[in-house]
Amino acid sequence: MRKALVAGNWKMNGSMASNRELLSALKEAIPGSDAVDVAVCPPAVYLPDVRAQLQGGSIAVGGQDCSDETSGAYTGEIAAGMLKEIGCEYVIVGHSERRARQREDSDWVARKFIAAQAAGLVPILCVGEQLADREAGQTEAVVAEQLDAVLDQAGVAAFERGVVAYEPVWAIGTGLTATPEQAAEVHRFIRDRVAARDSSVAGGLRILYGGSVKADNAAGLFALPDIDGGLIGGASLDAGSFVAIVNAAG
Ligand code: G3P
Repeated sequence: MRKALVAGNWKMNGSMASNRELLSALKEAIPGSDAVDVAVCPPAVYLPDVRAQLQGGSIAVGGQDCSDETSGAYTGEIAAGMLKEIGCEYVIVGHSERRARQREDSDWVARKFIAAQAAGLVPILCVGEQLADREAGQTEAVVAEQLDAVLDQAGVAAFERGVVAYEPVWAIGTGLTATPEQAAEVHRFIRDRVAARDSSVAGGLRILYGGSVKADNAAGLFALPDIDGGLIGGASLDAGSFVAIVNAAG
């Protein structure tokens, strides 16, 4: 039985004051449960303060990206070991917004995945297609390329300490949510592709859905057999919405 995970990807949002307000509400409303793990992924500059506010509670902290390098002349990058040192448990790698803006290709994302695990973090590997890919019937081909890069470089056993997030790019921030059927189809595809290498690893792999998850659609998505929680963007910035989504996963 896989334990659900709901992670909030704050993206480039927040402030010291608004973070305190949001975290205060989340700490009060999310007591911790045996059914769902909860994490928030703030902008890197806020990680120490967010970690300090969540210290001793049930909500974990994650980064939104990490370098594939451990140290050196990589201006602006953040090593996975640094995230671990300040108390992160998770790190998102390969988010579609970074694949687009930073030109992160799948081999680079695979190296980030490996670096995250080497530092003791749980990587959340984002995969997903553009609308044009879906309309061209290329959804599975795109997701396979993104997934296989990590399977080939890290090995299937690495997914025992990893998470995959399926985020159809056309559903991110658009209010367009994949239908439960669309999401379930790709989640099953992901699980089957991992199972082709190791069925035991595939059975324990948490596959999250991301893309306009809201309080009113979360339960329908999370009820599907291969959806093990969500990677939440906009709704993670509103305490009531995020708590409702966490409760829907519990
Ligand atoms: O990483 C999660 C994010 O891409 C989803 O964003 O705003 O559609 O929930 P949103």
